[in-house]
Amino acid sequence: MKRLAVIGDPIGHSLSPLIHMTWIDTLGLDASYESIRVPAGETEAALDDFTHEGFTGLNVTLPHKQAVLAKATRTSDAVKAIGAANTLTRLSDGGWQADNTDAPGLTAALARLGLTDWAGKTILMLGAGGAARAGLFALDQAGAEIILLNRTVEKAQHILGECCARQHRSGPLDDLAEVCGQADLVINTTSAGHGGSHIRLPSGDGRLFYDMSYGAPARPQLQHAGAQGWKTEDGLAMLVCQAAESFSIWFDGKRPDIEIALAVCRAALEQDA
Ligand code: ATR
Repeated sequence: MKRLAVIGDPIGHSLSPLIHMTWIDTLGLDASYESIRVPAGETEAALDDFTHEGFTGLNVTLPHKQAVLAKATRTSDAVKAIGAANTLTRLSDGGWQADNTDAPGLTAALARLGLTDWAGKTILMLGAGGAARAGLFALDQAGAEIILLNRTVEKAQHILGECCARQHRSGPLDDLAEVCGQADLVINTTSAGHGGSHIRLPSGDGRLFYDMSYGAPARPQLQHAGAQGWKTEDGLAMLVCQAAESFSIWFDGKRPDIEIALAVCRAALEQDA
């Protein structure tokens, strides 16, 4: 039996077990997927334990996305540029392969909305924390022009240099109203919603406002965006699409059903609300 898990702290509200078990059950696979709390600072010791316990794949969430790299014996180019991994796979030589499926997860979630042709498109991204990094890498690779705005401008300049191969623009979040007119799409990666606040937006005129968060923390921002005339989308499909990429790595390229897992997640979030 294939033993899989998601590790993080906190981990209690993770939807990953629900997503992966839905696919494992639907496809009748001989595998298990659990959630395991691993406190900060215990990443490397925990990975040694998981090796001995026979785990073959792990999803990695906060606060371990960078710390797991110390134990990775093989890392994808995406992981190197993003500086973080969310998927580990046991190799036959006993090492761990590190991948970042948040990047293809974002482009797959946007493709689901019909957004696939990025050349000549301008994306306004808000926030320059951990959540922004995979998005920047993915959209830079896809050929989009990016304007990255952040409360702390230096952080925006810094991560553009780390995660992107091409040149893009950056600036303070206060420039939002001024540059918004140039954007085909806005992607919010800030954690403002987790602190109960939201970023004030100018009129959207029917353009897409995509928030990487979902559930209760996303609600005030998406309500505000909707009231300002933006078409809105939360990050739940990105979560499911990144899970699908991990699943595919672990199960020899199998592509699981996105819509089944998304429906199950929406139902679970509604029950929590
Ligand atoms: P995550 O890993 O979720 O991205 P993070 O690394 O702590 O979390 O980054 C949080 C991001 O949200 C940062 O870009 C932060 O801006 P600063 O770099 O200036 O701190 C942004 N952020 C958090 N709260 C915000 C708020 N109330 N308004 C605007 N930006 C906010």
